[in-house]
Amino acid sequence: MGREAIVTGATSGIGLEISMMLLDKGYRVFGIGRNFSRAKIEHRAFIPIAYDLSDAGEVIKAARRIRTLRQEPVFLLINNAGIGAFGPHEAIDLERIHELVAVNLEAPMLLTRLFMADLKRSKGFIINMASVTALKPSPMGSAYSATKAGLLHFSRSLFEEIRKSGVRVVTICPDMTRTGLFRDSNIDVADEPSTYLTPRYVANAVRTVIEQPEGSVMTEIVLRPQRHMITRRKGGKG
Ligand SMILES: NC(=O)c1ccc[n+]([C@@H]2O[C@H](COP(=O)([O-])OP(=O)(O)OC[C@H]3O[C@@H](n4cnc5c(N)ncnc54)[C@H](OP(=O)(O)O)[C@@H]3O)[C@@H](O)[C@H]2O)c1
Repeated sequence: MGREAIVTGATSGIGLEISMMLLDKGYRVFGIGRNFSRAKIEHRAFIPIAYDLSDAGEVIKAARRIRTLRQEPVFLLINNAGIGAFGPHEAIDLERIHELVAVNLEAPMLLTRLFMADLKRSKGFIINMASVTALKPSPMGSAYSATKAGLLHFSRSLFEEIRKSGVRVVTICPDMTRTGLFRDSNIDVADEPSTYLTPRYVANAVRTVIEQPEGSVMTEIVLRPQRHMITRRKGGKG
């Protein structure tokens, strides 16, 4: 029987790629997201868990559902789900700001709290998908980058708090990655492949993290494309 993993945001982009990598490695994967019609995973070890992570009550229900289905303590909690909001801060919908904080920061904290006993028993991993925007001032992404900086700081503090329990807490900070994250905004990756990362590249980093021998941990990984370039387009919500 494979080890058990939770991957949030498993319906597309980076989370979908991480889920496929874990299924290949023999994990049972509980994938959380809202819209599984676009996730092309048909694998008997993939269990879709359809809940809205912007609602704390739904996060708790998702955790309960996983608890009834899991066969052993969860070994991997990958807090990957996230949404963006790019543009002048005064142009961002108030509701979007609430959603950003709830999905990008509150849900990882809640799931970590809800699965901590499991992770301590399995001596597993918490892997938080932050962003390079966590590391530097990010104009036109002030609220987004604040959620990611918060997630990074949460991970750093939590690692110090629980390291003696054997749980490994890891933050991954990718730069621009070719996914649907920018679908409603007026920025996107450029066409030139050396200017963006792919979800496969980020999933490879996760694989490297979990393949490290017990007793050592890569706590932070920053992933950058070789060159910097973004595309700006007209329209979008900013
Ligand atoms: N793409 C980049 O350039 C980049 C760079 C650095 C960091 N990241 C981070 O990487 C992570 C994955 O993003 P991505 O680039 O792969 O974008 P994506 O393709 O848009 O994927 C986002 C995932 O999050 C899920 N999600 C969003 N809101 C949700 C909600 N309310 N409830 C449940 N699930 C929700 C989506 O599922 P549903 O829509 O089905 O709910 C989807 O599976 C995010 O945390 C993002 O901030 C991305």
